[in-house]
Amino acid sequence: MSGTTGGGPDGLGVDLHLELGAGGSRRALLIGALREAVRGGRLAPGTRLPPYRSLAADLGIARNTVADAYAELVAEGWLTSRQGSGTRVAEQVSAPAPGPVRPAAPPPLPYDLVQGKPDPGAFPRAAWLTAARRALTAAPHEAFGTGDPRGRIELRRALAAYLARVRGVRTTPDRIVVCSGTAHALRLLARVTRGTPPPPWAVEAYGLPFHRGLFGEAGVGTVPVTVDGYGARIAEIPPEAGAVLLTPAHQFPTGGPLHPERRAGVLEWARRTGGLVVEDDYDGEFRYDRRPVGAVQGLDPERTVFLGSLSKSLSPALRIGWMCLPTTLVDGVVAAKGVREPYASATEQLTFADFLDSGAYDRHVRRMRQRHRVRRDRLVSVLAERVPGVRVTGLAAGLHAVVELPPGTERSAVTAAARHGVAVEGLSDYRHPEARGPALPDGLVVGYATPPERLYGAALDALCDALCDALCDTLGPTVLGAPAGPSS
Ligand SMILES: Cc1ncc(COP(=O)(O)O)c(C=O)c1O
Repeated sequence: MSGTTGGGPDGLGVDLHLELGAGGSRRALLIGALREAVRGGRLAPGTRLPPYRSLAADLGIARNTVADAYAELVAEGWLTSRQGSGTRVAEQVSAPAPGPVRPAAPPPLPYDLVQGKPDPGAFPRAAWLTAARRALTAAPHEAFGTGDPRGRIELRRALAAYLARVRGVRTTPDRIVVCSGTAHALRLLARVTRGTPPPPWAVEAYGLPFHRGLFGEAGVGTVPVTVDGYGARIAEIPPEAGAVLLTPAHQFPTGGPLHPERRAGVLEWARRTGGLVVEDDYDGEFRYDRRPVGAVQGLDPERTVFLGSLSKSLSPALRIGWMCLPTTLVDGVVAAKGVREPYASATEQLTFADFLDSGAYDRHVRRMRQRHRVRRDRLVSVLAERVPGVRVTGLAAGLHAVVELPPGTERSAVTAAARHGVAVEGLSDYRHPEARGPALPDGLVVGYATPPERLYGAALDALCDALCDALCDTLGPTVLGAPAGPSS
């Protein structure tokens, strides 16, 4: 016998799940179940229990049986009963024995310059709330049922219009599938493009290790393609690759756009081999020069998958992304995703659709672009002043830049940064383990978007201090400028 009961003054306020089991009187079974729930910590000290009447009704037993059980447990000291405040778990009941003590994780470093995340304090709470209120008020009842695995139609319509206007994407709502981000999209695509045996994917020799790992988990191999100053060397994509994953607008992490000849070249490869071009447009909204770099997808929508997400522009916590698919892939991706919408919340999708349609997203992106640009300029000028031996590249777009370092200094720079409280990663952390050809120069991938405004200046100072330490150790102080005072 088991039941979940509502208690409280209206009989609906407190839920309590109890398994009474079998073998014994109902009174004894109820006492045992309540004692066990208190002893195991499931009912915390002070928790109010449901009134006799509602617990009795839900368990299908007599009210007197519950009253007797409560009285017995009060007498034993497990419960307390006071006129007007009902029956509660006693405060001094001993807590369950603590589990094994886990070693505490080291505290995070105070200055977060690891690439990849916007400042969580910059999330536009008020505008998002306005959009949520409007979207939920207008939503039809069916929006709160099980959803279409392609995602809400309101969002797919808004995305088709937005991506055409801003990124030159050519698609329609029925070829868009909403997902929970780029990682989710890659997991789905790895399944859909699989053959027997699955063909490998070509990937940039410098890229996100996390993404490479997703292919490994799906049983799909990856073949690294060299990255140089013009982006990925398309000529190296093997004909047998099932797909190639590229970051054409802003090579991740080195920062340049894919050269126009290579953009044409990758589509030529796709036409010749039947392979798929997968375009990770992770931060395409954030360009600071006047050279617009449109989506490769716009050049051949039937051979290209365009991937985007809110992780850089709004928040990685929203877990909303999108795939603009060739017609032939839609059914397979939808089937891989599942029959109902199993990932992206309909209320968040509706909110984002309103956010797009109302222009709030454009306004947020423009504000963030301005803020990132100022931060990027500040990074460059502080480094030029304090560590003139280093060059900063990959500056035209995005939320990060590459600080090039003298050969052999990358590891000591990362270690020195940690000593100065700065979390930052080396360029070599992004290199494919099977990459052939010469490695790119040593460097740091510096994310300038994450720290809150009040810490950004201190973070840059700490980074410069670390670089001075690391480079002085290697090259001697003469290559470096004398440290200036802290930047504002
Ligand atoms: C290269 C690259 N692509 C895509 C993403 C976005 O991934 P997701 O949408 O899964 O958060 C990131 C985020 O860190 C990234 O660095």
